[in-house]
Amino acid sequence: MKTFPAIFTGIFATFALGWAGAVMIPQFQLGGLQPQVDEEMGDIYPINVGGVTDQGRRVYASEGCFYCHSQQVRGKFDGSDIERGWGGRRTVARDYIYDDPIFLGSMRKGPDLANAGARTTKPESFYRELYDPRGAVPGSTMPSYRYLFTKRKISGQRSVDALDLAGPDAPEPGYEIVPTGEAKALVGYLLSLDRNHALKEVPQEAKKK
Ligand code: HEC
Repeated sequence: MKTFPAIFTGIFATFALGWAGAVMIPQFQLGGLQPQVDEEMGDIYPINVGGVTDQGRRVYASEGCFYCHSQQVRGKFDGSDIERGWGGRRTVARDYIYDDPIFLGSMRKGPDLANAGARTTKPESFYRELYDPRGAVPGSTMPSYRYLFTKRKISGQRSVDALDLAGPDAPEPGYEIVPTGEAKALVGYLLSLDRNHALKEVPQEAKKK
């Protein structure tokens, strides 16, 4: 039994070192990350937008968008994300300090969405993509999320959010297809996705469009 203390110490050290490497050291390095503040310019990044963005993030989670879309841009040394126009620089830990949960994603069946809101400012284009992916991009393998929209009778003015649909998708005269609250929150979240802001710890690799 003389070897017991040695075995016990060995097992304990293995777990302790594993825990230190996977939990404690990253917590020391990244746990206290704060937004970057430029007092002269009055510029703060990232900012916690909250509100509808948080609601939209929950819809993004519940609809499983992360199964096909990542939200992490790799640097030029590590892939062609920058050339593909997915971002102006690689993303770093500070970009995600207000994200809960963080949707880094592990599969890319569709484009990376880390900067989806920087590519378009038009909610219509996101509504279109969600309602009819194959209408937006022929041959798209993205599922359609029509249940996030509803058909209703036009009373008075047509809604500003009503989809412009033609052909068999168009609703009968007098009716319109509008996004539900969930779709509006989701699109609000997508529009908020812009991680191109300059950060001192990472070089800018592509010109801002
Ligand atoms: C089964 C995989 C899959 C799922 C799940 C999925 N997508 Fe997609 N998505 C794609 C593919 C493939 C494309 C590229 C073709 C296209 O634009 O339709 C795409 C394109 C997009 C685009 C256009 C991006 C760009 O920059 O051109 C957006 C925005 C988008 N998806 C958002 C979403 C959201 C939000 C969800 C969840 C509600 C979602 N996707 C779920 C596969 C998927």
